[in-house]
Amino acid sequence: MIILGIETSCDETSAAVVEDGTRVLSCSIASSMKHFEGKGGVIPEEAARKQVECILPVVTEAMKQAQVTVEDLDAIAVTKGPGLLGSLLVGTATARVLAHVWKKPLLGVHHMMGHLDSVWLDKPEGRSQKAEGSDVISFPCLSLSVSGGHSDLRLRRTHTENTMIGTTRDDAAGEAFDKGATLLGLPYPGGPALSKLAEHGDERAYTFPSPLHKEHTFDFSFSGLKTSLKYLLRDCGELHDAMRANIAASYQYAICHHLTDRIRRVLDEHPDIKEIHLVGGVSANSRLRSMLQEVVGDRARIRWPAKLLYCTDNAAMIAGAGYFLMKEEGEKTFQPFTTQASVTH
Ligand code: KG4
Ligand code: ZN
Repeated sequence: MIILGIETSCDETSAAVVEDGTRVLSCSIASSMKHFEGKGGVIPEEAARKQVECILPVVTEAMKQAQVTVEDLDAIAVTKGPGLLGSLLVGTATARVLAHVWKKPLLGVHHMMGHLDSVWLDKPEGRSQKAEGSDVISFPCLSLSVSGGHSDLRLRRTHTENTMIGTTRDDAAGEAFDKGATLLGLPYPGGPALSKLAEHGDERAYTFPSPLHKEHTFDFSFSGLKTSLKYLLRDCGELHDAMRANIAASYQYAICHHLTDRIRRVLDEHPDIKEIHLVGGVSANSRLRSMLQEVVGDRARIRWPAKLLYCTDNAAMIAGAGYFLMKEEGEKTFQPFTTQASVTH
C-alpha cells in the first residue's frame, strides 16, 4: 500500500511517499526556519503564507522522487493537529482537494502518532512479515516523545492504542533546550546549537536541581532548570568560552538526566515493557541517546528514528502512521471531504 503523507504543523512543509508504513520512497521538506532566524521563533501568519507558496511544489517533488504517479497512490494522510492553525489549514485543505480530485481516501493523522511511528521508518524489520526474532518490534513499548511542544511518556499496546502515563507540567524538553540556548546567546532553534557547544564542555562542572525528584510521578518539569540557568548566568557575569561550554554541557546533562530518570522509574514499575522508543526533535540529541542506553542496559530494546530527518517534523512519519491507522482501524478512519470538518478533531 502506497500512501502520500503531508505535514505542515509548524514552519515546515513536507510531503512523502511511503510504502506499507515503513519503506520511505521519498521525503521532501521545505523549511522557512532560516526566515525566522533572529526573530526568536516562528511567526505563525508568516509561516502559513510561506507554506501556501511551497506546498504544491513539495508534493510534486515527493511524487517525482518516489517515481510514483497518482494511480499508484492508495491514500493520502495529512497531519490534522496539533500545531499552528494556519499552517495546519494549508496542509489539510491541500490534502482534501487532492483526495477529492484524485479520488483517494483521506486519513487525518495526529502529529504525535506520526512521531510515535517514526521508529518504524526505513527499518528492515518493519518491512515484511518475514522478519523474525529480535528484529520484530514487540509491544508493549514505552515511547518518550520529546519535541518543541511535547514531553510525553506513553505505554503503547498497538500502533493505535496507547496510554499517556507522564507528561510535562510546564515547558517541553525542546523548549528547555531552546530557552536555555537563547539565554546562552545561541541562535533559534537552540537544541542542536546547545548540544554542539556542550560537546566541548564538562557536564559535571555545574549542578542543576533535580525536578520533581521527591514525587512519585512519571511527569516532567523543566521550567525550574531554565530559571536556575538564568540565575547561574547572572551570577557568573562575563563568560569565557570554556565556561559557556561547561554550562551548556551541565544544563544538557540535567535535562537528559530528568528524562532518563523517568524511564528508569517506569521500567521499575512495568518490567513487562519490551522496547523503549525515543522520538521527536530532541531524540536527535546524542547525549540523551547515550544516557538512555546507560539507564536501560539490557532491560529492554531501545529504538530511535533511523535518520535525523525522521526525528524532526516530516511527512514520512505521517504517511507511516496513516498506514497503521488504516490497518488497525479500517475505513472508519477516513476523513470527510467537507471543508467544515475541524482540523483538530
Ligand atoms: O519534533 P520537532 O521537529 O518539532 C516539534 O514538533 O516541536 O522538535 C523540535 C525541537 C526543538 O525544540 C529543537 O531545539 C529540538 O527539537 N532539537 C534538539 C536537537 N535537535 C532538535 N534538542 C536537543 N538536541 C538536538 N540535537
Ligand atoms: Zn513534531
